[in-house]
Order: sequence, then structure tokens, then C-alpha cells
Amino acid sequence: MIADKLLHWYDRHARVLPWRSPPGGAAPDPYAVWLSEVMLQQTTVAAVKPYYERFLARWPTVEALAATEDAELMAAWAGLGYYSRARNLLACARAVVTEHGGRFPASAAALKRLPGIGDYTAGAIAAIAFGESAAVVDGNVERVVARLFALESKAAVREQAAAITPAARPGDYAQAMMDLGATICTPKRPACGICPLREDCRAFARGTPEAFPVRAPR
Ligand code: ADE
Repeated sequence: MIADKLLHWYDRHARVLPWRSPPGGAAPDPYAVWLSEVMLQQTTVAAVKPYYERFLARWPTVEALAATEDAELMAAWAGLGYYSRARNLLACARAVVTEHGGRFPASAAALKRLPGIGDYTAGAIAAIAFGESAAVVDGNVERVVARLFALESKAAVREQAAAITPAARPGDYAQAMMDLGATICTPKRPACGICPLREDCRAFARGTPEAFPVRAPR
């Protein structure tokens, strides 16, 4: 029910981003999804866009990226920060070429064994590029789920996020959650008046959406 409503909203309001196919469209290239998700790990959508487009133009395939010199890759990454991501990017591209014949493995479990791919990134690639019904929990999704079910712990949020992930269109669903968190279910002053999930939201019913997620005590 939640997934259906969210997908219906996404069909009309999905952000148009260079690494996405249109809602309901063909699955995008796993290489492009991986590249975008690694860049988006610690960097905003707006900052990532020009880097993503330059990288894809310079290195259109994982083979091309795997063959590049470390120094050229590090120079192209300059400005994105968190340089361990760039080193892992190269290590991962080379592993995909030498150990997987140039094809990204198609499951979250196998993706997680590659350099620089943790739970979040593995789930995102598996859902978006391969249609696996993997739970994808980033900061935005954590906030949305914490509010929907008025949950107070990260463990409860993860469990609930997995429980409501649909079998159909998991990639669109994951990105719909991210868009809802980025544009409507924002940390401050969420736009509950236009939220497609308002009627399902316990935090909204209580009148305290901003009370979730609960900040861990320091
Ligand atoms: N942040 C991380 N991955 C994203 C995606 N695929 N779309 C929008 N925001 C994101």
C-alpha cells in the first residue's frame, strides 16, 4: 500500500537526474548506477551532476575506467572529497574487469564483496540496475521510515524499511523514497500538506514529524 502510493507519486514527480531512467523505464547500465551511487555516498546531488557527466564521457565503460592511470582518476575526482572513494573506485573497476569479466555481479550479496561497496551502495545497485528487492537505507530513507512508523531506533528503522520494500519496481521505489526525503519529508519543516503518505504517517498523526528520527544521545 505504501509502496503503491509512493510509486504513483514517483511516476508524476520523479526528479530528472542524469543517472536515472524515467519511472517504469528500462533498467539503467549497472556501471553508470555504480558510478553515481559511489559519488552520491557523501556528496550532494547538485555537486555530483557535473562530475558524473564528465566521468561518463571520459570513461564510458568499466573497462575504460579500469585501464586509466591512478593520477588521471585522482585529478578528475578533485573537488568531490573523500578521496578513499576514488581509490576504491579504481580498485573496484579493476576487480570487476579481472574477476567478473567486466560485468558487475547482479546481487547485493556479491556486490558487497567489491571494494568501496557497502550495504547501502550494494542495495542501491542491486535494486536500481538489477531489480532485486533490496532494502536501500540512506539518511533520507531513514528519516522517512522513522516518521512513517514513529520509530526510535536505527535497528527498528532498518527492519521496517526491509519489510515494506516491494517486489515490484524496487529501483524506482528506492529512488522514490530518496526523492520524498529530499523534497518533501525534509529534516526541518517537512511539507506534510503535499505528502503522498500523509495518511499513513504516525509522526504526522501525532503532530510531531520533526521529532523523528530521534537523535542518538551524545
Ligand atoms: N542519493 C543517492 N542515490 C541517489 C539516487 N539514485 N537518486 C537521488 N538521490 C540519491
